[in-house]
Amino acid sequence: MTARIIDGKAAAAALRQRIAAQVAVLAGRGLVPGLAVVLVGDDPASQVYVRSKERLAREAGMVSVAHRLPATTAEGDLLALIRRLNADPAIHGILVQLPLPAPLEEHTVIDAIDPAKDVDGLHPVSVGNLSIGGEGLVPCTPSGCMMLLRDVLGGDLSGRRALVIGRSNLMGKPMAQLLVRANCTVTVAHSRTRDLADECRRADILVPAVGRPLMVRGDWIKPGATVIDVGINRLDPEPGQEKGRLVGDVAFDEAVQVAGAITPVPGGVGPMTIACLLDNTLTAACRAQGVERPAAAA
Ligand code: GUN
Repeated sequence: MTARIIDGKAAAAALRQRIAAQVAVLAGRGLVPGLAVVLVGDDPASQVYVRSKERLAREAGMVSVAHRLPATTAEGDLLALIRRLNADPAIHGILVQLPLPAPLEEHTVIDAIDPAKDVDGLHPVSVGNLSIGGEGLVPCTPSGCMMLLRDVLGGDLSGRRALVIGRSNLMGKPMAQLLVRANCTVTVAHSRTRDLADECRRADILVPAVGRPLMVRGDWIKPGATVIDVGINRLDPEPGQEKGRLVGDVAFDEAVQVAGAITPVPGGVGPMTIACLLDNTLTAACRAQGVERPAAAA
């Protein structure tokens, strides 16, 4: 059997197109969703992500503002910027790119964001809402994973055994919450899990998100399982190459022989993250104005 390849790039492009159409309807009524992205320091990967977020928000018709601050920014200055963005009626979504350079504390900075503008879904109020089934904003990468899962499995995930590998606040924990909400039987594995391969072999839905290249082997996968690979890892360059290959946490060439469906890396989960950020920004803008989200074109 060869797995169906889940095309995250196409799914993300379709979602961005739907969002752009909805933004155009709102703009016609004088509401333009606004996204502010804050980047502190000069981490090269973060610079690339922030540029993409800025560009794709603009392409969707939103107001898109990036604030780039030096790595030496004092906590007070960063918090003052967040307070200004909280108070700015043209900004509906605020994202502070992580990781932050030391000694800035992620939780202090995230706690300062107005939960209504927390398009990353990382504020304790958003985390609490996710846990109790409230109306808060949901972290983007897990949201994107759920959309891909529903696309490939036909919507209803009830009763399936899901294994999330990784317990980060950004991915593993919210992913587990979303799967529970979708009536899956969920296990969260992590660095202290005993016999990870055995846990994987029981999973109908497998979501590795640990950043360990090619860790999940083909013989760890239950035949027919759906594999959503969240890892993005760069291998060392081969001789004569400038850059190493990008790979996931799953040994794709092996897994594709066993799984029912699988996301590639790149081109799987990655593109969904920014599309879901735009989706959250649109949701936040509509809620701020007390308007319904315009119906999406089919
Ligand atoms: N760094 C890597 N992924 C993310 C993300 O989804 N949100 C933020 N804020 N920082 C990140």
